[in-house]
Amino acid sequence: MGAHFINWVIISLCAGCLGLELTPVTDPVISEVGDNAMLEIKPPGVLGAVAWFFSPAAIPVVSWTETNPVIGAGYENRVTLNTATGSMELRSVHLSDAGVYTFQGNSFTSGREPFNGSVTLEVYEPITNVNVKPSLAQPIANQALNLTCEVLGSQTVSSRLWLKDDGPEQVSITGPDQEVLNSSVTFTCSAKSLPPCNYTWYFNETETAQSSQYNIASVSYANSGSYTCVAWNSVTERKSSAVKEFTVTGEFIGFVSKYFL
Ligand SMILES: *[C@@H]1O[C@H](CO)[C@@H](O)[C@H](O)[C@H]1NC(C)=O
Ligand SMILES: *[C@@H]1O[C@H](CO)[C@@H](O)[C@H](O)[C@H]1NC(C)=O
Ligand SMILES: *[C@@H]1O[C@H](CO)[C@@H](O)[C@H](O)[C@H]1NC(C)=O
Ligand SMILES: *[C@@H]1O[C@H](CO)[C@@H](O)[C@H](O)[C@H]1NC(C)=O
Ligand SMILES: *[C@@H]1O[C@H](CO)[C@@H](O)[C@H](O)[C@H]1NC(C)=O
Repeated sequence: MGAHFINWVIISLCAGCLGLELTPVTDPVISEVGDNAMLEIKPPGVLGAVAWFFSPAAIPVVSWTETNPVIGAGYENRVTLNTATGSMELRSVHLSDAGVYTFQGNSFTSGREPFNGSVTLEVYEPITNVNVKPSLAQPIANQALNLTCEVLGSQTVSSRLWLKDDGPEQVSITGPDQEVLNSSVTFTCSAKSLPPCNYTWYFNETETAQSSQYNIASVSYANSGSYTCVAWNSVTERKSSAVKEFTVTGEFIGFVSKYFL
């Protein structure tokens, strides 16, 4: 297997001729531990040969020269080479797979054209064990309290975001102020809230729906009136609301129509 790689490198590196430096489809490729990573390239023309190496030690990963792909030691059952494009799939990645992968090969355009390039693979470990630890088990009013965000285990943390239960605030309803008879109308209610709030709709003070959107498939004159959205956060136990006045008009034949119909 090693000999195959050496052979192939000698064949492919046509001394003195400038290879096309190929830009990978995605670079860097970002994966979570356990995911399958796709290192994708699109060489011009029909693929003639390709080889992938893991830098900086140029560890052979996979190579192909119009026969069966040769998989490098340690990559058995984890690598699939697409022999049409030269793209490589690396399955169930681990942290040690992160790094730069270089590739070289050739494809037939006007002649056999060499190409090469590199892709960076970034591998992240999802964080599972997070704890917020207060400095005092029982916080005391008007006394300082420190909260520490602890990540248990050896996981690397790149950023932390602190959130506090809050809202709902800035409740607003989007949707039309008026619409012609028989048309479809959707009102959407939104609010700033943590955790996300629940919404209840009222029409002329009668409860009509419980969702962020309220849809009327075909409006009639009886749908004219006042629409209220109440946002409710059960954690902060706070409510906040917004009101929209809505009018159903006759067929659109001018601004006077709604007064005469
Ligand atoms: C591609 O090959 C050229 C010429 O051999 C070399 O200068 C360049 O660094 C190579 N690019 C990559 C990304 O390996
Ligand atoms: C909170 O942390 C700061 C900085 O580490 C420290 O000076 C302070 O004493 C701590 N306060 C409490 C209540 O633990
Ligand atoms: C609205 O729909 C009703 C019943 O489907 C129909 O009789 C009426 O002609 C429609 N009006 C308009 C303006 O499209
Ligand atoms: C809703 O309220 C509006 C304004 O007060 C009124 O014009 C309309 O008739 C009411 N509609 C219903 C169905 O109660
Ligand atoms: C929304 O309503 C559901 C069901 O009534 C409830 O379990 C949930 O806690 C509510 N969420 C908020 C943020 O109020």
